[in-house]
Amino acid sequence: MRFKVSVIGAGFVGSTTAQRIYEKGYADVVLVDIVEDKPQGLALDMMESGPVLGTDATIVGSNGYEETVDSDVVVITAGLPRKPGMSRDDLLLTNMKIVGSVSEQVAKHSPNAVLVIVSNPLDAMVQHAKVVSGFPKERVVGMAGILDTARFRSFLAMELNASVTNVQAYVLGGHGDSMVPLIGTTTVGGVPVADLIEKDRLEEIVQRTRDGGAEIVKLLKTGSAYYAPSAAAAQMVEAILLDRKEILPCAAFLEGEYGINGLYAGVPVKLGAKGVEQVIEIELTESEKAALLKSAESVQELVNVMAASS
Ligand code: NAI
Ligand code: 2OP
Repeated sequence: MRFKVSVIGAGFVGSTTAQRIYEKGYADVVLVDIVEDKPQGLALDMMESGPVLGTDATIVGSNGYEETVDSDVVVITAGLPRKPGMSRDDLLLTNMKIVGSVSEQVAKHSPNAVLVIVSNPLDAMVQHAKVVSGFPKERVVGMAGILDTARFRSFLAMELNASVTNVQAYVLGGHGDSMVPLIGTTTVGGVPVADLIEKDRLEEIVQRTRDGGAEIVKLLKTGSAYYAPSAAAAQMVEAILLDRKEILPCAAFLEGEYGINGLYAGVPVKLGAKGVEQVIEIELTESEKAALLKSAESVQELVNVMAASS
């Protein structure tokens, strides 16, 4: 029997995430959206690629949750994306309502699922999904760190004309302007990056990473990134379904780790069948620790705004 994955929100991120998972062939996929016929049309189109790709998995679209019953993993991408000039935080109260109503339905129909949240502002939305679903912390996790780290790794590889696979790095903290690309632990082919790129240039690459989402929004003009985000979400789904115990930067609920308590933040975690199986605490420099705490404060501010509005 194949795994079952539901993707809620059939927009750019949701549909490409569904496509990536469907094409792997190990999970049947349900794509849900409120727009009538859209998820059905997208799913049918993907299903018709099956004979060409050689996958026997199924993918169906729906405007409800009946088909999602007992999913192993549910990816939530429902919500508005930002437009040029908007920050992720500008989406807070609108997406809070959407993610809240979706999480309620998901919890009702798939009480044992692991939830992977993608909607922005990411850290606040994961926090809200955890509260509304009532799921334990290990089964509600956010996607952002893999994306931000992939951007950082891409820019470093471009700078050094090196393979992206040789660049080992982490971007921690909230998925916003205060995210924390780490320098101390970043290596290229095992060599510390600080020995390969001079400080000022490295600082420019760090800033480009922080602005990575906005750079794409500015170019696309009508929406935000989806190819790299969907690759990141699909990597998380695979780590969970296949119980890979993969260590990846994800938004996890912290209870004292890294000096952060009762809040989601991007940190390295071990992802496996149970969801977040372990928060990995790596050695940070004093300035990285301070930057991580500052980033967590920005997430806390959004959580406070949500609490005040409900
Ligand atoms: P999009 O506008 O293409 O798709 C959003 C979809 O959600 C639409 O099809 C819409 O009809 C649907 N939707 C709205 N309310 C719904 C509901 N109650 N139930 C089911 N579906 C509903 O946007 P896109 O580009 O797919 O982005 C989706 C979200 O993901 C945005 O909030 C965006 O900011 C966020 N995002 C987060 C990233 C991250 O790193 N965490 C990366 C990229 C996007
Ligand atoms: C990104 O970083 C919009 O959060 C999304 O591309």
